[in-house]
Amino acid sequence: MSLRLVTNLSSVRCAILLLVLVVSFSACTDENQTDNQPDLSIRFEVPAGFPPPVYGFQNNPLTQEGFELGRALFYDPILSRDSTISCGSCHQQFVAFAHSEHRFSHGIDDLIGNRNSPGLFNLAWHPEFMWDGGVNHLEVQPLAPITNPIEMDETIQQVNLKLQRSATYPNRFLKAFGTDSITTQLVMRAMTQFMGAMVSADSRYDRYRSGMVSFDDSENRGLQLFRSHCENCHSEPLLSDFTYRNNGLSTQFNADPGRVSITQLPGDSGKFKVPSLRNVVLTPPYMHDGRFNDLEAVLNHYSQGILQSSTLDTTLPAGGMQLSTQEKADIIAFLSTLTDNTFIRDRRFSEAP
Ligand code: HEC
Ligand code: HEC
Repeated sequence: MSLRLVTNLSSVRCAILLLVLVVSFSACTDENQTDNQPDLSIRFEVPAGFPPPVYGFQNNPLTQEGFELGRALFYDPILSRDSTISCGSCHQQFVAFAHSEHRFSHGIDDLIGNRNSPGLFNLAWHPEFMWDGGVNHLEVQPLAPITNPIEMDETIQQVNLKLQRSATYPNRFLKAFGTDSITTQLVMRAMTQFMGAMVSADSRYDRYRSGMVSFDDSENRGLQLFRSHCENCHSEPLLSDFTYRNNGLSTQFNADPGRVSITQLPGDSGKFKVPSLRNVVLTPPYMHDGRFNDLEAVLNHYSQGILQSSTLDTTLPAGGMQLSTQEKADIIAFLSTLTDNTFIRDRRFSEAP
C-alpha cells in the first residue's frame, strides 16, 4: 500500500485558518473550570505568532467524542498483533511523547528499530512525517507503525475487525462519527483528531515571546547565539523549518541514508528532517539514530564535529562552528526554556485523564 497522498494544501490554508478559529471559539473557556473538575474539553487554537497549520481539521471536524476515541486508540495495545504495544508505548507524555531513555524504539516481540522515536506535538504544522518524510499526510501516519513488522505488526483489516468485535468501540464510533461501522478511514480520523490537537506552545520561551517573563543573561545570550547559528534550520516559532538537511553526522550514509530512500535523488543522501527543538531537554537521546546522550554532546558536535561530505548543508562549516564553553552553556540555557510543562501535564492527552 502506498502511504503517499497528493494534496494541494496551500490553496486551502486560508479556509483552514477560518475553520480553526470557528473550532476554537466554540470551545469552553477557563470559566467552566472548578477546583475539583478541570476542564478537559478539547479545542484547537493557533497559538499567537504561529503560522497557519498544514492540517486544519477541515475534512475531519474536531469533536470531543472524536478526540477521546482517538486518545483511546492511541493508548490501546489492541492495535498491535499480540495486544502488547500501543502508540503510547513508544510515545510517552512525560517526555513530550518521545520514548524515554531509548536510543532505538522497542516494538513487538522486543524487536528493536533503527530510529529514535521523536516527540509528538504541533503535528498539525508538519508538512511530512518521519525522519525521512516518508509519510506525507497526518491521516495516514498511524498505518505506518501499525503495519511495521518491528513495531506493531498488525494489518489494518485485522485492527478494524478487532475494534468492530469489541464491547465498547462500535458505540464510541457511533457517537463520534454517526456510524458504528468501523472503517480504516474513521480509525485514522479519530487518531488524527487526538494527534492533531496536541499543541505545545506554553514554554518559558513562549512566555518570553509574549512579554510575560524575561530571560536571564545566559538565556538571552543563548537566544542570540541560537539565532545566528541554529535558526536557519530550527526556525522559530516551531523551532524547525521542516526541510531535510545533512548536519554533518556522517561521511557516508550506509547505516541509514535518510531522505534519499524516499526521493531516490542522490543529493538527498544523509539528509533528515530538521527536528523541532521544542521540549528538547525532555527527549534524549538525540538525532535520528539517538547517537548523542545529552545536549552537551550535541553542542560538541556542532562546535567541533561537523563532518564534510557531498551533501553537507552549505550553511554549515566542516570542522564545526567553534563555540566556546560559555557559548555552548548559553545555548543550552536557551534550549532549556523550550520545555512546555503545561503540555506534558495536560490531562486531556493522558492515558487516564
Ligand atoms: C515501537 C515503537 C513505536 C510505536 C509502537 C509507535 N511509534 Fe510512532 N514513531 C516511532 C519511531 C521510531 C518514529 C520515527 C520513525 C521514522 O522516522 O522512520 C515514529 C514516528 C512517529 C510520528 C512522526 C513524527 C514526526 O515528527 O515526523 C508520528 C506522528 C507517530 N510516530 C505516531 C505514532 C502513532 C499514532 C502510533 C500508533 C499507531 C505510533 N506512532 C506507534 C516509534 C513508535
Ligand atoms: C543546516 C541546518 C541545521 C543547523 C544550522 C542546525 N541544525 Fe540542529 N539539526 C539539523 C538536522 C537536519 C537535525 C537532524 C539530524 C539527524 O538526526 O540526522 C538536527 C538535530 C538537532 C538536534 C537533535 C534533536 C532531536 O530531537 O534529536 C539538536 C538538539 C539540534 N539539532 C540542535 C541544534 C543547535 C543547538 C544548533 C545551533 C548550534 C543547530 N542544531 C543547528 C539541522 C540543523
